[in-house]
Amino acid sequence: MQRLLRSIVTMTVVLTVLNSLLIFCVAVLSLWLWSMGTISVGAVALANGLFIRLNQLSGWILRTVAALFENVGTVQNGIETLSRPTSVVDAPGAGELSVPKGEIRFERIGFHYGKEGGVIDDLTLAVAAGEKAGVVGRSGEGKSTLANLLLRFYDLESGRILIDGQHISQVTQESLRRHIGMVTQDTSLLHRSVHDNIVYGQPNAEDEDVLDAVQRAQADTFIPELRDRAGRTGYDALVGERGVKLSGGQRQRIAIARVLLKNAPTLVLDEATSVLDSEIEAAIQEQLNVLMEGKTVLAIAHRLSTIAVIDRLIVMDAGRIIEQGTHEQLLKADGLYASLWNRQSGGFLAQTAAA
Ligand SMILES: Nc1ncnc2c1ncn2[C@@H]1O[C@H](COP(=O)(O)OP(=O)(O)O)[C@@H](O)[C@H]1O
Ligand SMILES: [Mg+2]
Repeated sequence: MQRLLRSIVTMTVVLTVLNSLLIFCVAVLSLWLWSMGTISVGAVALANGLFIRLNQLSGWILRTVAALFENVGTVQNGIETLSRPTSVVDAPGAGELSVPKGEIRFERIGFHYGKEGGVIDDLTLAVAAGEKAGVVGRSGEGKSTLANLLLRFYDLESGRILIDGQHISQVTQESLRRHIGMVTQDTSLLHRSVHDNIVYGQPNAEDEDVLDAVQRAQADTFIPELRDRAGRTGYDALVGERGVKLSGGQRQRIAIARVLLKNAPTLVLDEATSVLDSEIEAAIQEQLNVLMEGKTVLAIAHRLSTIAVIDRLIVMDAGRIIEQGTHEQLLKADGLYASLWNRQSGGFLAQTAAA
C-alpha cells in the first residue's frame, strides 16, 4: 500500500507539473502568435480551452489507473488466501463411518499444532459405548485440542483415533462429523438466517422439531425479538456482519439447539454452557442430560458442578491424563482435581455436600 501510494503521489506531482507547464506554454505561445497577428482570437480561445480540458482528462485517467492497480493488489491477496491447499483431506477410497455402538478410543495420540513442545503427548483414552466421560483441567492444557482431533479438524502427528474400531482418518470427514454433535467454547454462526443456522446439522428437519429444539435450548426467549437491518424478524433475521449481532450466550444457545436437533450418536461438549448465566445454564443442563441418555459423550467441563451425570472424570494436565475416576475417588486421591474442586466450590462446600 505504501509503495502504491508513493507511486501515485509521484505520478500526480509529475503530471501536475507537466500539465501546468503545457497550459502555461500554450497560453504564452497563443497570446504571442495573436499579438503578431498570425492567429485569431477564436484560435486562442480554442487552444486554451482544449488544453484545460486535456488537463482534467489526464487527471481522471491517472485516478482510474491507480484504482485499477489497487484492486489488482486486493485480488492478489484474495487469491493467496483462497488457493492455500486444505491440509486435512479424505483418504483415497475413504468409506462411510458407521456408529452402531459409539465407542471412542484415542490410542497414544500426539499433536502439537506443528510447534515445538507437546500440546497433546502420548495420550491414551478409551470411552466405552454409552459412557459419559468428563474432561477437566486447567485452561490451555489441551482439552479443546482433544475435541478438535476427534472431529479431525487437524490430522494427528502420532497415534490413532478409532470410533467403533474405524480409523477416523480412513473414513470421509462428512460421515465422521455427521455422527458427532458438538458444542464448542466459542460458537461462530454463518452469515445466514437464524433458522438456517439451527438446521445446519439437519437441513431437512421439520419445523416443529426445530421449534422444540429451540425451546429446549431456551433460545425461544430471544429469537422472536430479533430484527435485522433489512427488517427481517425472528427466524428469518440474518446473523453476522450485516445482520443481527448475537451475544456469546445467545450464540451458545443456538449451538445447543443445533445439537439437540441433530441428535447424533456421539456428543462432544466443549464447555458447552460456559458463557450462559447460571439460571439458563441449569435449565439447559437438564435438556442436555436428557440428550446424553444412551449416547457416548465427551464433555469438557468448565464448572465442576455441571458434571453430575458424568460416569468418569478425566483430569488433564500438560496434554496428558494425570488422574481419572469418579468424583468421590478423585477427591479422596487428593490430587489436582481435589485442589481444583476445593478452589471452585470455595464457600459452597456445605451446599454441594448437601446436594
Ligand atoms: N489453533 C492453534 N494453533 C496453535 N496452538 C494452539 C491452537 N489452539 C490451541 N493451541 C495451543 O494448544 C494448547 C492447548 O489449548 P486448548 O486445547 O485450547 O486448551 P484448553 O481447551 O484445555 O484450555 C495451548 O497452549 C494453546 O496455546
Ligand atoms: Mg478449551
